[in-house]
Amino acid sequence: MTDKQTRESFGSRIGFVIAAAGSAVGLGNLWKFPYLAGMNGGAAFLFIYIVIILCIGVTAMMCEVVVGRMGGLNAADSFEKLGGKRWKPVGWSGIACAFVILSYYAVIGGWIIRYMLHSFTGLIELAAQGKSAEVFSVFVSNSGEVIFYQAIFMAITAALVLMGVKNGIEKSCKIMMPMLFAAMLILIVRAVTLPGAMEGIKFYLYPNFSKVTPQTVLAALGQGFFSLSLGAGAILIYGSYLPKTANIIKSVRQICLIDTSVAFLAGLMVFPAVFAFNAPPEAGPGLTFITLPGLFAQMPGGMIFSAIFFLLFFLAALTSSISLLEAPTGYLIDHGMKRTHATLIMTVLIFLVGIPSAVSLAGGLNVGSRSFIDAAGYLTDSIMMPLASMLCCIFAGWSLKDEKLKAELTNNGTINFPTYGFWKIMMKVIAPAAILCIFATGLKW
Ligand code: PFF
Repeated sequence: MTDKQTRESFGSRIGFVIAAAGSAVGLGNLWKFPYLAGMNGGAAFLFIYIVIILCIGVTAMMCEVVVGRMGGLNAADSFEKLGGKRWKPVGWSGIACAFVILSYYAVIGGWIIRYMLHSFTGLIELAAQGKSAEVFSVFVSNSGEVIFYQAIFMAITAALVLMGVKNGIEKSCKIMMPMLFAAMLILIVRAVTLPGAMEGIKFYLYPNFSKVTPQTVLAALGQGFFSLSLGAGAILIYGSYLPKTANIIKSVRQICLIDTSVAFLAGLMVFPAVFAFNAPPEAGPGLTFITLPGLFAQMPGGMIFSAIFFLLFFLAALTSSISLLEAPTGYLIDHGMKRTHATLIMTVLIFLVGIPSAVSLAGGLNVGSRSFIDAAGYLTDSIMMPLASMLCCIFAGWSLKDEKLKAELTNNGTINFPTYGFWKIMMKVIAPAAILCIFATGLKW
């Protein structure tokens, strides 16, 4: 095991906040959140989502960061160090989850690179002829090309992780996150100034409580966990790189605020455009790769907006994928392997495991009724993440000594945390019970 002296860390608390927010802000925010909100009562969904993030998301994230910083190691070894061998499998399942998520996330990352480049080489012209669905299906059926772009995405992720926690992960997130905000701002301004944009804003923000069902609440819970990157060992290992003097409570609140704001803003970017051009708002996964190129084709300067849009997606995916690669890579490093070797080994393994996902949309490769890539997403989002996150809350709430936990959170009493009692109840009872609900109801094959 690497000793404390030689283990890497973030340069500052803000570096940690930006890197963890980078992990949280991803495809889940940009694509899935607006879609879910639009379908589930607009502002009513947003309201429920915010309550869930405030009560359960913040709690579960605080647990992960605390376990990471107390353990000072990757997920598996932190759990073992703090709770003994029987807790190690929880950490393992987190690391395995990051591994599987990255295997398919990189495939979608590859599609995004392809679309970003293709924005300049004919995508918009083809979309203008109403051929964007065809462009997408031709591309995903060409497995060789999909794997090629998946490899490029993995290579870029690996290059950043190779440079280390401070010089790779932290520095690159400090550059990419402001770029992401700038790209988003440009697209929002473009979208809300389109003629007819108001209809989209109304659709997105009208609080329609009649659409809220127990299913809606569960959808919001599931989305909250995925969006905050919980239960995958990624936030935990970032927590282990957090300086001991940093304020965990404030940091976690800031990360959750950034993540939720980006999710909210993503809706303001997508729905006005969808309505301005009379596209179906319920397009789901096809929205990004099929509907939106069609919309860009109808806008003046569509090529540029398309490129900015896919650049935004690329940055969001990349800041998430580096955290996903760091979770298993950090395990090998903690066991004495050089960062270069550890990164390369994990990159190659994850790339290979991702190949069935890459080829699955070409047809044929199914698990039950789902394509392989869908099945991998289902396994991680609906089973592995909620399970690991629930166990992490139970571990921190019931197994860690109260004085130690409080001392870690308040930096030995130097930080004021008046809601500690409330937080403890959330962590011990409410959050695990809520996660159990998502877990139980999410299990539909
Ligand atoms: N939070 C990311 C998103 O919203 O796309 C996905 C993710 C990243 C999940 C990192 C888990 C993780 F460890």
